[in-house]
Amino acid sequence: MEILNYSSEKLNSVRPLLDQAMAVRENAYAPFSKFKVGAALLTAKNNIYKGCNVENASIGGTICAERGAAMAAIATEGANSFLAIAIASGSDVPAAPCGICRQFLSQFMAKDAKVYLISTTTKDVTILNFWDLIPYPFTEF
Ligand code: THU
Repeated sequence: MEILNYSSEKLNSVRPLLDQAMAVRENAYAPFSKFKVGAALLTAKNNIYKGCNVENASIGGTICAERGAAMAAIATEGANSFLAIAIASGSDVPAAPCGICRQFLSQFMAKDAKVYLISTTTKDVTILNFWDLIPYPFTEF
């Protein structure tokens, strides 16, 4: 785990991914929690797909930004593997994916796929390997 500032040169190669996560966050529909989240996924075909959280009055019908991005990627180019995901939120400690999203993404993300958690308030970017988030996923039945 590493924490860098958004403007660090070390993040140059992934800045478009970070920027798209922050941009799509603006489209989040979060009237209940007021907590907007944006996610941008990089696929093995080198394309970026975005998602934002979309809440529902039933609360349980809410879909997180991460799953929205995964759905967009798969609907457009099929189920190719995801190389990295950037997730932007407005808390000082940036949101990490919920348990359902970790399991959902584990179907398509390599163990060493990179996860960038961005705080839009502090501009800190926490960098993790995907497997740090879900070291023992459900895979077979
Ligand atoms: N949320 C996400 O979209 N992604 C996360 O990583 C954490 C939580 C959303 C779901 C809900 O709309 C709001 O944030 C508060 O939980």
